[in-house]
Parts: sequence; structure tokens; C-alpha cells
Amino acid sequence: MDYLSREITFKEKNIDDFVLTDATTVMLGEGASGKVYSYISDNGEKLIIKMMYSGEWESNDEFFKDIVWQSMIHNEINKLEKSVKVLGYNEYNDMDDNHYVCFIMEYYEEYNDCFSFLDCGENWSREIVSPYKRKDNFKNDTFYTVDRSLKLCIVKNIIESLKEIHHVDIVHGDIKTNNIIINSSTGDVKIIDFGAALFIEDNRKYMATDWTHGTLGYRAPEEDNSNLLGKSSDIYSLGVTIIEVWTGDIWYSGESFKHCRNEVLKSLRVIEKHEKNLGSILRKCLNMDSARRPTIQKLDSFFQSYA
Ligand SMILES: Nc1ncnc2c1ncn2[C@@H]1O[C@H](COP(=O)(O)OP(=O)(O)OP(=O)(O)O)[C@@H](O)[C@H]1O
Ligand SMILES: [Mg+2]
Repeated sequence: MDYLSREITFKEKNIDDFVLTDATTVMLGEGASGKVYSYISDNGEKLIIKMMYSGEWESNDEFFKDIVWQSMIHNEINKLEKSVKVLGYNEYNDMDDNHYVCFIMEYYEEYNDCFSFLDCGENWSREIVSPYKRKDNFKNDTFYTVDRSLKLCIVKNIIESLKEIHHVDIVHGDIKTNNIIINSSTGDVKIIDFGAALFIEDNRKYMATDWTHGTLGYRAPEEDNSNLLGKSSDIYSLGVTIIEVWTGDIWYSGESFKHCRNEVLKSLRVIEKHEKNLGSILRKCLNMDSARRPTIQKLDSFFQSYA
């Protein structure tokens, strides 16, 4: 489409041999805006294809506006070292002639989403190995076994990556374990899914938006109440995410902000009991008053010297 090639900030990437129903195509996720596939091209290149279906938007105009917006965000993110890279875009029509715009991304094969990693049975044992426990399907206690040095490495890498993102005045808007992929052998991470991201203009504390960003359980109170989104809102979500990585407790959708927050605070109290300084900085991340949350730089310097 002419309009797209004029407005979009990166190049078209050829995926002519991409067929949705092909055995070389595997669906990895399905979010509000579309489906995500991994795909091996005819020349053996492994790619991630994020397909956005125009029918999910109110009008074609809204759809194209959003695509152009996301391409501007990705153009900035592509300059960073640690986030997922977009290689280009393309268009696709399926057999029923539905129209999609695809973002084509680098595929990190050794990476798995952090949510599935924490939930994986291999990371839980009947033997007491940590203070963090949960009930298994048979109502027995199981204990979280992820090595402390691996947890620390994962957390430090998430913080480094978000620091880069905030440095270029982008708010991610949906930080959660589901939107972070990790290499569990090295502890390296990539923050993915910039579908809710926005630019912070003129050093503002917040941007007012016309929809509720983020995911219940992770989203900050100002997002939940008033659709306000700032860097400090990412810090709230990051606090929840770090608590998940640290304790292995993961959040499935709750009923309300209050209900989810109470669950998060329960896990935070266990951390506070065993690691006072860590508990204290995480509690600050979860402050209802966004001005009192630490910046990403503050968190970075805390974790740099935390062993
Ligand atoms: N570049 C990548 N390399 C490896 N795996 C990826 C990559 N991008 C996405 N994935 C996998 O695909 C899943 C879904 O991706 P993503 O979070 O971008 O989309 P989504 O959540 O389905 O959509 P939405 O934008 O609506 O939230 C991730 O949880 C991850 O497991
Ligand atoms: Mg996602």
C-alpha cells in the first residue's frame, strides 16, 4: 500500500514464501492486536512475524495510524542494544482476503518467555530449597529452585534494558513476565511487545491516553484509574515483575486492581522477611504515589551493588 511505504519508518521485508497454514509456521501467542508466529523462510532464515489484522481496529484510518505509530516506536527501539529488533514490515492477505500488516522480527531461538520459565515444573521441588513456595496440584508444598545468581542476572538485565528504553523517552506500557523473553542458560533477556508503548513528550511525568494500557495485575494505579502512563508506571509493573522472578509466584488475571495488588503484596512480605533491603526497594516501586517510586537509574544502582 502506497500510504504505508511512504509513512512507515522501516523497509519492506520480503516474506513471499510465508503461508499461515504451513508446517514451517508456528503460532506463539495471540494478543489483543493480533497473532505472533515463528517462521522459517525458504532460505532457512528464522523469523518472528507479528500479524496485525485490520478488522481489529475501528476503521482503516485508525489501523494505519496505529501501524505508523508502532513503526516509529520500533525505529527508536531498533537503535538500542538490548531490545527485540524489527527487521521490516510486509502485508499479507489470507485465503478469505483478510488484510494484515506484519512486523517481521529477529527470532531469538534460545529464548523462552519468562512467564513460562517461572511456571515450568523443573523450577519447583518438593524439597525445601528456598523460602518461596506454592501448592502443587495435589495440595503439597513445592519450593522454588531457580538459582539466586540466575535470578539476579535476569533482574539486572531486565533493568538494563528498561533503562535504555526510558533513556530515549519511551514508556513500554506493558512490562510483565509474558513480555520478556529470557535465555535461561545465560540469564540474558529481551523486552518484547511494544504494542502499548508511547513517547514521553517534553519531559512530562505522564501522557494522558484514551485507553487503559498494560495488564491487570501489573498495571499501575494511575493507568488503572485514569489512563495516565509515565515512566514511573513502568516502574510499578517492573516491581511486580521482579517479585515474580524472585519468588516464582506468577499472576494470572485477577478480578480487580485491588485484588491483584493484595496478592502481589503477600509475596512482597515474604521477600521483606528474608531480604530486607530488596523488599524495601520493591515496596517503593509499588508505591501508590508514582512520584515516590524510584527511577530506573536508582533501581539500576541498587542492583549493581546487590549480591
Ligand atoms: N523475537 C522473538 N523471539 C522469540 N520469541 C518471541 C519473539 N517475539 C515474541 N516471541 C514469543 O511470542 C509470544 C507472544 O509475543 P508478543 O508478546 O509480542 O505478542 P502478544 O502478547 O501475543 O500480542 P499483544 O501485542 O497483543 O500483546 C511471546 O510471549 C514469546 O514467547
Ligand atoms: Mg505480549
